[in-house]
Amino acid sequence: MEDFSYRLPTHFVFGHGSERGTGRLVAHYSGTKVLVLFGGGSVERSGLLARVLDSLDRALLDHVELKGVKPNPLLSTVYEGISLVRDERVDFILALGGGSVIDTAKAIAAGARYPGDVWDFYGGDRTPDRALPIGCVLTIAASGSEASPDSVITQDGSMLKRETSSSVLLPTFSILNPELTETLPAYQTACGITDMYSHLLERYVSRSSAVEVSDRMIEGLMLAIVDEASPVAEDPRDYDARANLMWAATMAHCGIAGVDRKHDWASHDIEYALSSRYGVAHGAGLAIVIPAVLTYYLDVEAAAVPRLAQLARRVWGVDEADDMTAARAGVEAQRAFFVSLGMPTTLEAVGGKLEDIPELAHETCHAGGRSGTVGGYLPLDEHAVARIFSLMLL
Ligand code: NZQ
Ligand code: ZN
Repeated sequence: MEDFSYRLPTHFVFGHGSERGTGRLVAHYSGTKVLVLFGGGSVERSGLLARVLDSLDRALLDHVELKGVKPNPLLSTVYEGISLVRDERVDFILALGGGSVIDTAKAIAAGARYPGDVWDFYGGDRTPDRALPIGCVLTIAASGSEASPDSVITQDGSMLKRETSSSVLLPTFSILNPELTETLPAYQTACGITDMYSHLLERYVSRSSAVEVSDRMIEGLMLAIVDEASPVAEDPRDYDARANLMWAATMAHCGIAGVDRKHDWASHDIEYALSSRYGVAHGAGLAIVIPAVLTYYLDVEAAAVPRLAQLARRVWGVDEADDMTAARAGVEAQRAFFVSLGMPTTLEAVGGKLEDIPELAHETCHAGGRSGTVGGYLPLDEHAVARIFSLMLL
């Protein structure tokens, strides 16, 4: 087990109607002027925005609104938010939505307290050391951004998608009402399930030894996610399934299931090239990338075989005695799960072609501050990443 220091300061409020207490929470955490940030309109259609604004009014809190955060959110929206925060003297940012809105809120929160260009924090060596407080009202169980120190933003023009991470970006509070996810299109629910699963897998693929506690936590969360996927597909208004998925997504990425081990994150770094280039949703991109990355590990790295065989047996019910056979059957079981969710699993399915691979691999390993390799499990260079992309072809 690795040494660690772990602190999660975020206050979680979970359950029915919990968004009605938003104003009280903002006031409790000393917010006086609030930027209410949201996406393309789902929160207006669902009535969430109106309920939150009413709650801010009841808490006598002044607010301004910024609408229009796009999925795979853009730096230009962050700049717009920073100007608004400065002009209006905002002291608290409230994100209504999913990972894209929350990540934009984090970027605005850091950028507003930084004299330079906020993009300095993405893909470079710099990390934010100050940020305005943010609160979240989550509407999709997926990214775990409601409990993570991370923010992922895409630069307009170059379309480079890069990440920053700092404890100052951890939300002050996150309101988790599973009812709010009932309006999600089935495809977005499935993308979210894939993403939360992937956050566990990126931790499971590790060289750290004697990590039985977090292995079992990860396996338990994976089993819960797989179990809840069917009920929610059959009945999108199944509160209990929605609730379990929402808490699983938060647990998957809040740090607890893996503070004691080294992580991988190769699939995420490779996926960013797909979501930025083809506009694919992050979870759908991961469904394409994950089987290819795991297959590559089994092809080239002996230590991956027992680890992925353990995953196959404990989570995917594989009972093959031979480790390599079991591990490969586990990869196929994961691919079949993504297919059952309606996720794409080939590069072609999102418009990719063989000819795109050299550029995708170069962008993954070199552009925007990358050092030439990605991945914490194996250092994957451009050649290895190109091979992985080729495993995604039909
Ligand atoms: O924009 P609106 O109209 O709100 O529609 C959104 C959006 O189109 C819609 N939606 C969300 N909640 C809804 C809803 N529609 C109906 N009813 C609801 N209740 O869903 C679409 C996708 O929203 P988005 O916020 O993009 O989804 P998600 O939460 O999956 O976030 C994805 C982003 O998070 C990043 C990803 O890279 C991607 O950019 N990630 C952030 C992480 C973090 N900060 O820790 C970790 C992740 O690995 C991930 O990289
Ligand atoms: Zn993710």
